[in-house]
Amino acid sequence: MNRSTAPVTLLLSALAALAACGGDAPPAQSTAAAPSAAAPSSAAELTDVEMEQGIGPIRDLELGPIDLALAESGEAAFTTKCSACHKIEERYVGPELGQVLSRRRPEFVMNQILNSNEMVQRHPVVKELLAQYYTPMPVQVTDHDEARAILEYLRSVQTGASSTSNGTGGDR
Ligand code: HEC
Repeated sequence: MNRSTAPVTLLLSALAALAACGGDAPPAQSTAAAPSAAAPSSAAELTDVEMEQGIGPIRDLELGPIDLALAESGEAAFTTKCSACHKIEERYVGPELGQVLSRRRPEFVMNQILNSNEMVQRHPVVKELLAQYYTPMPVQVTDHDEARAILEYLRSVQTGASSTSNGTGGDR
């Protein structure tokens, strides 16, 4: 048995753990605490893809030209489920969304819609938004197609392509 080297290894990893977590763990007796580098310590552990596309079920969307019928159904969903907190042109309970696609990827937007709980807890961008807006956004939509329709609406607003967003929806 390699018992003789074990204490050294343990001590080293305990020291590493100590350095990593600022010293609030009891040093020696932590047999199980060694792999704490992989512990779920929130933010910093996101992959590059998660940083860009957000955390959630949506990855690598392929978007074609804007589908106005889809955008129209998305607008209806937006009015019912989002407009209590979001406006198209200005800050409200949450950020304005008319230009959201110039600052976020479409996958990010859909993941925020479908998985805002986790986004708020773990994504540094959304955590920072929470610090500014104080309200954690609730999940209002669980259906991917509905989230996709809302995205289409936001795309249409962003590009001014929507024939429906000019007169309706209270965006101004
Ligand atoms: C109860 C209020 C509320 C509702 C309802 C709500 N949101 Fe939010 N939303 C927020 C807040 C507040 C934030 C800022 C981040 C946070 O604190 O969660 C946010 C953030 C976002 C973001 C990220 C914005 C950015 O600048 O990156 C998107 C996209 C978004 N919401 C879309 C939606 C959509 C689409 C709906 C409807 C399905 C919706 N939200 C419903 C409050 C809300």
